[in-house]
Amino acid sequence: MADAQEFLKDFPLLHTEMNGRPIAYLDNGATTQKPEQVIKAICGYYGGCNANPHRGAYALSVEATEIYENARKRTAAFIGAKRPEEIIFTKNATEALNLVAYSYGLTNLKQGDEIVITIAEHHSNLVPWQHVAHATGAALKYIYLEPDGNLSDEDIETKITERTKLVACTQVSNVLGLKNDVKKIAAKAHSVGAVCVVDGSQSVAHQKVDVQEIDADFFAFSGHKMLSPMGIGVLYGKYDLLDAMPPFLMGGDMIEYVEEQQTTYAELPAKFEAGTQNVGGAAGLTAAIDYLEGIGFDRIEAIEKDLVDYALPQLRELPFIELYGCDTKRGNKTGIIAFNVKDVHPHDVATILDSTGVAVRAGHHCAQPLHRYLGLNASCRASFYLYNTREDVDRWIAALKKVRGVLGYGA
Ligand SMILES: Cc1ncc(COP(=O)(O)O)c(C=O)c1O
Repeated sequence: MADAQEFLKDFPLLHTEMNGRPIAYLDNGATTQKPEQVIKAICGYYGGCNANPHRGAYALSVEATEIYENARKRTAAFIGAKRPEEIIFTKNATEALNLVAYSYGLTNLKQGDEIVITIAEHHSNLVPWQHVAHATGAALKYIYLEPDGNLSDEDIETKITERTKLVACTQVSNVLGLKNDVKKIAAKAHSVGAVCVVDGSQSVAHQKVDVQEIDADFFAFSGHKMLSPMGIGVLYGKYDLLDAMPPFLMGGDMIEYVEEQQTTYAELPAKFEAGTQNVGGAAGLTAAIDYLEGIGFDRIEAIEKDLVDYALPQLRELPFIELYGCDTKRGNKTGIIAFNVKDVHPHDVATILDSTGVAVRAGHHCAQPLHRYLGLNASCRASFYLYNTREDVDRWIAALKKVRGVLGYGA
């Protein structure tokens, strides 16, 4: 697609080689590559005004504070938060989800309460809730899947009950690549008085997200999956909920007054941002938001859809390929394709693809319960982004056709 070619020039890493071959980078679900604009913003911060934000009265520190707080404002506008104080910077989505689990979950849940999550969650939106359940005595319930990989409507209706105090759900499954109707799930959660935590790790870089429209109480994502550096993540929370929650980490910057035996805490958002923060990451995040908004999500979605529509019919023609979550009838398929090559371990598949310069992910993708539920040990995953081209898909499929031959199987 012409668009992808246009953006490709901005990504220096994609013009290097892997194993002596041009790179077909199809592991965007794990992390995305960074455009020149983001790299420049990070280098500009470290080369031009690196200083500890919020702490100094001198010009460099003031500038670092401005960069950091501007990132908060840009992030708030990007996802439709009502005020910048509703944006808490974390190191990644995992920390953001843990913040909610430790601070909201451990404080508000008790024996007799129920937490409802889906079987398609990444471990980052599953293990913290297990911990809350074990620590508080609350029960952990699961929404399971329809045969096509979508969440069971019946489970959404019957598992979320008057006992439910918290519902946590991913907006897009990182394995099946299917969009969930998180607006409907949030409405159901609210109808029984529960809060709804949405994991936006696989959505926010690929589609327009508006937390008001979803009516999510909490929304978490990682910068590195949306063109920004590693080490910066975001938790959005409704102001009143965040304001009522105790801090998650204690230390510098999150306090108002510290006495020998007592401390009063800072207002939002500082209450949840203990210690020196990732200002370089925030500078990169702002540049990434500028970059994404400059392109527009309609174009990004069109590129990914074109690649999926191009790849799936070809994959379906290959009798040795098994696909998961690839029924496109409901129109909620994103640019993530999970698959296996029959009789071949996913790690072997990924290694053979690697030798041709094609990067895909292999393993359980931090979703062991989902794989177990699907009756799989592991899978491979190709995941597209705005710089991928049909040529990348061609190279991936050409390499797949060789896999069984390399291992001495017939076609
Ligand atoms: C759906 C989902 N949630 C959470 C995460 C965790 O993200 P991070 O490792 O950046 O914290 C991932 C990462 O793959 C993910 O795909």
